[in-house]
Amino acid sequence: MVPGTRFLRIVRILVTGATGLLGQELCRLLSSRADLVGWARRIPSQRGPVPLDSVDITDSAAVSSRIKKFRPEWVIHTAALTDVDASERDPSLAMEINGGGARNVARACAEAGAFLIAVSTDYVFDGASPRPYTEEDPTGPVNAYGRSKLEGEQAVLRCAGGFGWRRPHHRPLAGGRSLVIRVSGLFGSGRPNFVTGVVENLRAERPVKAVATQVNSPSYVVDVSQGIGRLIELNPPAGILHLANEGAASRFQVAQAVADLLGMDRSKSLIQAASWADFDRAAPRPPHSALDCGRFARLTGAPLRPWRAALQAFLQTQVLDRGGSP
Ligand SMILES: NC(=O)c1ccc[n+]([C@@H]2O[C@H](COP(=O)([O-])OP(=O)(O)OC[C@H]3O[C@@H](n4cnc5c(N)ncnc54)[C@H](OP(=O)(O)O)[C@@H]3O)[C@@H](O)[C@H]2O)c1
Repeated sequence: MVPGTRFLRIVRILVTGATGLLGQELCRLLSSRADLVGWARRIPSQRGPVPLDSVDITDSAAVSSRIKKFRPEWVIHTAALTDVDASERDPSLAMEINGGGARNVARACAEAGAFLIAVSTDYVFDGASPRPYTEEDPTGPVNAYGRSKLEGEQAVLRCAGGFGWRRPHHRPLAGGRSLVIRVSGLFGSGRPNFVTGVVENLRAERPVKAVATQVNSPSYVVDVSQGIGRLIELNPPAGILHLANEGAASRFQVAQAVADLLGMDRSKSLIQAASWADFDRAAPRPPHSALDCGRFARLTGAPLRPWRAALQAFLQTQVLDRGGSP
């Protein structure tokens, strides 16, 4: 039995952002154990096992009526504008989707009595701390994406009617319970990401310029999804929770680990250490935004495995076993 999927009975779950990197994995993991519906803006022509509904989360009336109709017990909200530089160029769009969209979902969940798990980011922190961030640390986003996600978090927490880690100044709406889960540096299959880009470039013997001056918590979407599954089994308290693979690394370290794990030692010379200043990027990044996930480990009895072991599992199942690109 895959950990994180043993619900005592079939529960009704809605996943927003179901065509995204994390959303696709959540749907794969939960589909056999839950009555599941996924939302996305655009529905792909090739359908998976989970029914998909086209809902724009910025449309509050549509969000409210569709949640009332499906009556989920749990909503896992992953939908977001995740392009950090696009968010910097159009901060109002980022705010509309990541702030306003989260607020629409949170209000509809509160009205319908659904438990909301809203996925957020390490980019709510300024990255100036030398140690991993805990849930108690003050936020201070350095870019428009981080500010919009923080706005979304606050909207979600205002709807929390639970107990535990809810902050005292957030006034709950009747009926809502919500948990903000901050994740970091996601990799996996399903959508292009930093790791899949490194694999493709190394295989084609193209150079890889990877930032060495920014550190976060690289995390495998399979492990994060299983972590969320475990939390649903436990019926967690409301509030904020950090969820990432153990440890911290820069993109440069991740790229080197990819070469190591694929047995491409000679390709290591293709990997060049860089800083964000070497790229023409609109948004500044927090330099050190690794997450301390001790609260998750205490609550569930185990942390997620170290990022390098997770990377190895990803490369083994998605690249080496298939003999091709992820
Ligand atoms: N990727 C990371 O490294 C990372 C790190 C930290 C936190 N996070 C957070 O983790 C969550 C999942 O990230 P991800 O990388 O899996 O995202 P992703 O691959 O970029 O997918 C985003 C999903 O959101 C949907 N979406 C975007 N705008 C929407 C709208 N207005 N209405 C409805 N759906 C909309 C997209 O659908 P369409 O494609 O149809 O637009 C897509 O399904 C996000 O909340 C993100 O902020 C991600």
